Amino acid sequence: MRTVTIDPITRIEGHLRVEIEVADGMIVRARSSGALFRGIELILLGRYPLDAQRITTRICGVCPLAHSTASSFCLDSALGISEKIPKNSRLLRNLIFGANFLHNHILHFYHLALPDYLDPRGSPLEGLLYSPEAAEDCRFSSEENRKLVGHYVEALDMRRKAQELVALFGGKMPHDMAIVPGGVTYRPTPGDVAAYRFRLEELRAFIMDVYVPDVILLAKRYQDYFEVGKVGRLLSYGGFPEESGRNLEERLFPPGVYRHGSVEPLDPREIREAVARSWYEGDEAHPSSGQTRPTLEKQEAYSWIKAPRYRGEAFEVGPAARMAILLARGKLPLKSHVEELLKEVGIGPESLSSVMGRHVARAIEATILVEALKRWLSELDLAGPVAVPFEIPDVAEGEGLAEAPRGGVGHWIRIESGRIAHYQVISPTTWNASPRDGQGKPGPIEEALEGTKVRGNGMLEAGRIVRSFDPCLACAVQ
Ligand code: NI
Repeated sequence: MRTVTIDPITRIEGHLRVEIEVADGMIVRARSSGALFRGIELILLGRYPLDAQRITTRICGVCPLAHSTASSFCLDSALGISEKIPKNSRLLRNLIFGANFLHNHILHFYHLALPDYLDPRGSPLEGLLYSPEAAEDCRFSSEENRKLVGHYVEALDMRRKAQELVALFGGKMPHDMAIVPGGVTYRPTPGDVAAYRFRLEELRAFIMDVYVPDVILLAKRYQDYFEVGKVGRLLSYGGFPEESGRNLEERLFPPGVYRHGSVEPLDPREIREAVARSWYEGDEAHPSSGQTRPTLEKQEAYSWIKAPRYRGEAFEVGPAARMAILLARGKLPLKSHVEELLKEVGIGPESLSSVMGRHVARAIEATILVEALKRWLSELDLAGPVAVPFEIPDVAEGEGLAEAPRGGVGHWIRIESGRIAHYQVISPTTWNASPRDGQGKPGPIEEALEGTKVRGNGMLEAGRIVRSFDPCLACAVQ
């Protein structure tokens, strides 16, 4: 038995510590630990309710739009205006957040995950990207390596264009100024719309002609990684409203709970956050009543991340969940195109919850989103309203559920005497990187690692598995 600690895992956001025990060429036990505490939920208590949206946006510089959007949905519901949000506001929120998805998926594939598979020796980026472990299991020809390193550089420019899309309607990145409770603060000009359309077309070309073919190439060379890092239980809140209101069914990506091929409806009241192995006091609770009470006096704890569970089980969230549920529910736009892509890499929806499946799911999602963004842009009414007026109630409760690039994000608020009396956030990585719960059930990343056959000390395989989830630790602990 050999214990290997990777602390911190590089090429992800924030401070994730992963400890694996390797015996007879297999990871027999894994522990995922969030190594920092934030306290943002506590900072909000007693404040003016609208502050929550501005402050929670600052939870993360990588995924600010996730919190900006979920917190706006949460306050819309507490203020009783979810049904009154104008069509323009809904479209502009989708256009700003969707552009952030494209940025995220290109960033994740080229700059975070791909170096685990490359041999960049002989290229100008050798000093930056070379890793002996990755090069040893590199399955690309020297020409393919050169081409992929070239795309690594090209992807930097594409990320800039995607950030510009966010900034055109959102004001700036990382912390947009446009998405607010009640709608958006900015009415675009015809020039903004033309600038958005032009850049979106450039991104569409890159996604279809470069990103998707590169993901297919990787998937074909690493076909065995569709059997590595599997979880199989997937959950989605539903992403990108197609109508005003709180109905999760009226979204581009439908909600659901997926278990090994079949989908059940989601009931958000069944979510609980466990803290048995986390550095917090208290018992398992729904986030509308759960507390954040940090303590270091807890011998059995090993993470600052809480452990969200749905009906007592750990679920993977993210693009694999969204795409598997979309396919299983038969709600796929561009059906033939996506099925062709799956056929080309030789898998079905049940293989999406795996290392290679997650990369394929992100690419599929990018192709769907780029078309949805074009449609939403064409539906804008530049003369129409972009926000609805509201008053702050003395007493109210709200819930905001959204899908971020990394998975489901939820915000919960309770207002008393016109002030924030309670605020809880569950981010995608809280689900995926959670520690064990009171029943000893591992979190999804721990489960994905355990049972994996490895060569050597297991660091290469562990890195590939953990990065396939695209973890964000700043988000995982609030
Ligand atoms: Ni984040």
